[in-house]
Amino acid sequence: MADEDKKGALNPNAKSFTFNPNASTWAPPAAAAAPPAQSQPAAIRTAQAAATDKVTDQLAAAKIASQAGEGSDDEEPIDETDPLWQVTLRIAGGDRARAKRMLENPDALMAHPEIVAVIDATAAADDAAADEDWETAASPAAAHSQEAEETAAAAAAAPAAAAEGGAGGDKADGGEEGDEGEDAEPEPAETTETAIEEDPREHLNLVFIGHVDAGKSTLSGNILYLTDFVDKRTIERYEREAKQRNRESWFLAYIMDTNEEERAKGKTVEVGRAHFHSDVKRFTILDAPGHNAYVPNMIQGAAQADVGILVISARRGEFETGFEKGGQTREHALLAKTLGVRYLIVVINKMDDHTVNWSRERFDECTSKLKPFLRSCGYAVKKDVMFVPLSGLTGANVKVRVEPAVCPWWDKLVADGENNTQQGTLLEVLDRLHMDNRDPAGPLRCPVLDRYTDRGTIALSKVEQGTLRAGTKVMIMPTKQVTRVEAVYINETRVSSAKTGENVSIKLACTEADVQKGFVVCDEARPCHASKTLLAQIALVELTEQRPIFSSGYEAIFHCHTAEEECAVIDLVSATDKKTGKVTRRPRFAKEGGVVTAKIRLARSVPVEKYDDMPQLGRFTLRTEGKTIAIGKILDFKNE
Ligand code: GTP
Ligand code: MG
Repeated sequence: MADEDKKGALNPNAKSFTFNPNASTWAPPAAAAAPPAQSQPAAIRTAQAAATDKVTDQLAAAKIASQAGEGSDDEEPIDETDPLWQVTLRIAGGDRARAKRMLENPDALMAHPEIVAVIDATAAADDAAADEDWETAASPAAAHSQEAEETAAAAAAAPAAAAEGGAGGDKADGGEEGDEGEDAEPEPAETTETAIEEDPREHLNLVFIGHVDAGKSTLSGNILYLTDFVDKRTIERYEREAKQRNRESWFLAYIMDTNEEERAKGKTVEVGRAHFHSDVKRFTILDAPGHNAYVPNMIQGAAQADVGILVISARRGEFETGFEKGGQTREHALLAKTLGVRYLIVVINKMDDHTVNWSRERFDECTSKLKPFLRSCGYAVKKDVMFVPLSGLTGANVKVRVEPAVCPWWDKLVADGENNTQQGTLLEVLDRLHMDNRDPAGPLRCPVLDRYTDRGTIALSKVEQGTLRAGTKVMIMPTKQVTRVEAVYINETRVSSAKTGENVSIKLACTEADVQKGFVVCDEARPCHASKTLLAQIALVELTEQRPIFSSGYEAIFHCHTAEEECAVIDLVSATDKKTGKVTRRPRFAKEGGVVTAKIRLARSVPVEKYDDMPQLGRFTLRTEGKTIAIGKILDFKNE
């Protein structure tokens, strides 16, 4: 490893944590034109819930069937064996009239994960029957689950798991389920659903980050397409839709950008979520928005990620805009590191563009400018950062290597390992990554990303440490409430346990109000700490023009794992001069580029750990006025 990589390396597991933000070259963007509220809720949805389109046809069919009988006195000609009808009826507690009303409102109906599951299963079955050429391709919705092949009947028979899908593509429509009737649903028995063993393949969360329009959604969409997690007919529909908008090249991004606003503007707003797997690994894609106004959403995605895929547009002018002051390339790369991304894959995208033409010079120009910056963020570039030139649009170097006739220099670079990898395609690089910082035997830590009610309280989370087991008692921090894990789901599959690194839906025996975003589900015997008063080492990466001085009383938003809380500096304990290394005791203030040790007061108690004990709960960022102004690590805290 080069010396420069050792210096300032921010290894999430290392005992030493050296800030080297190199603020002179780091410049986060100007304040967003319309920054969203700092406290906005988790904005993560499931891209594959875009199968809603397919779904609408089925709902329409079921609705027609139910309506046919509505006007007559006769019992309606409902196909009682239709899995969709069966599930709807079950949700309606056996009330047929209510079930029929529910079928009138597809949006609200889709808020039920069991409906999504049954539709996924029948959609996959329909596709297979309709198109022999594509019979093995899983529908995007079916790719929700490793169990894409599950039959509709099976889905109907088993009360489906509550999972990400419920908070997914329909998130924008959330809260509309009231249309179905006010009466509380009777709790169906959970007897038919059996938990299975967790899939042993390693699971990685990949967050796609980078400047607006760099091609994150297009690349994410193409990965799903190339790995057969989106079927051909869905793609054809998206192609038609993109063509109607006169934006033919957007069709792949539509796999991830599922809501109307995103498609109309061609910009991601919420973090899109989708799953795919290879023979050796399982992956969750978190497609972050690049726009400055949505950085809090991006933070949400990056806080869960193991691997950052930094997408850089090589197109003339675009690389420059993304990397300069005001571009998101810098802010995203720094945030990803601070939030705990273990590896970074820098994708030099749009290599097919006519201004690039797979030019080696352009690739070298981009990488040589990025490397010093990434080092300054704390990445060990030689060890933890890989570079891959590709085209998210054509797919070259995504799954299959670019033709040597198109790009004659890539094979040799790979053979020489010059890009810190011996793998020639993005998917090969991903298959080779191994998370060496996971501790399945450690105390359980599951920060809560979001929660909802679905015949019980469901918390969406990632197991950051330890192993989550169904049937065990857990403690929710910071409230210290003890509750029981009634069930654990990975995607829609009910499992008996989930180890470190898994995204999970946890069914808890408490109310929805008891578990909130930013809370942490812990071992009952070994819970994490919670505090309002922290001692932290803070690197001031860029202060705002309005408030260029960091001193007691400075207020900001504290982002730590999935928690967001207002905070204020109450005391500056010491400051270290960036150039000389000289330490000043009790400074009155600090400026941009400085590193300080400070006491911070949070508005409410937040679950935390010391950085040295558990980096995932011990690192944070401070943001204000739509900008990331500082990154920090927790040195100590008062238990409160
Ligand atoms: P935000 O979500 O708004 O941050 O954008 P994004 O990074 O997701 O970009 P998106 O995938 O929406 O693509 C932006 C534009 O770049 C679209 O017009 C794409 O068709 C185009 N694009 C993406 N990848 C490539 C590529 O590999 N080659 C070429 N030529 N164009 C691409
Ligand atoms: Mg996007």
